Amino acid sequence: MSFLEMFDVLNHDLILKGEDPVAFDHDCREGICGACSMYINGRPHGPLQTTTCQLHMRSFHDGETITVEPWRAKAFPVIKDLVVNRDSFERIQQAGGYISVNTGGVPDANEIAVAKTFADKAFDAAACIGCGACVAACKNSSAMLFVSAKVSQLALLPQGQPERKARVESMVNQMDAEGFGSCTNTLACEAECPKGISVSNIARMNREYYAAKTKSENV
Ligand code: SF4
Ligand code: FES
Repeated sequence: MSFLEMFDVLNHDLILKGEDPVAFDHDCREGICGACSMYINGRPHGPLQTTTCQLHMRSFHDGETITVEPWRAKAFPVIKDLVVNRDSFERIQQAGGYISVNTGGVPDANEIAVAKTFADKAFDAAACIGCGACVAACKNSSAMLFVSAKVSQLALLPQGQPERKARVESMVNQMDAEGFGSCTNTLACEAECPKGISVSNIARMNREYYAAKTKSENV
């Protein structure tokens, strides 16, 4: 039984007893959407570096008491029980997480040559599912890993160049406006990220931001 199926059973029993079910977020249940965010026994998504929907009850001992909490961050206000509002992530994306060039249809994709090393790094950054575990794990509630993944995936590709400087500036500004904290290189985000996003993306975002601010082409 998966962790979310355990909640389904619990809520079924609560409803039969006429009690309020426990509110929790979920959608794909395949580790893709990032909705199933919760703190389990003091760790984001529980004891494994995976999403809560991919966690199974075999990771716990029979009869074990399991402590479950919502994400803890000022920028993720609790709606009910385990459901938090992550619209702050959406607003950061809306601030710059897009491209304006027409990339054509699927067959056109191979027309633009991208070096394998850049393509691989962009693909790794694009694996971020916006779950928020990085923020929840960070003692400063920093969103640097999430934002840097979104900045990197576009900064590394030719299609992302037209808005490259404006993008990093406005996404970082929006991140600050939402109340996320600063990065102090604890690396808890990388350790808990279910998609293995590397903190090297944070270093890249810092370089991108510096280049945008100084209008330097060579950083
Ligand atoms: S960087 Fe990792 S932990 Fe943070 S939102 Fe993306 S997938 Fe989740
Ligand atoms: S429900 Fe979509 S990642 Fe868990």
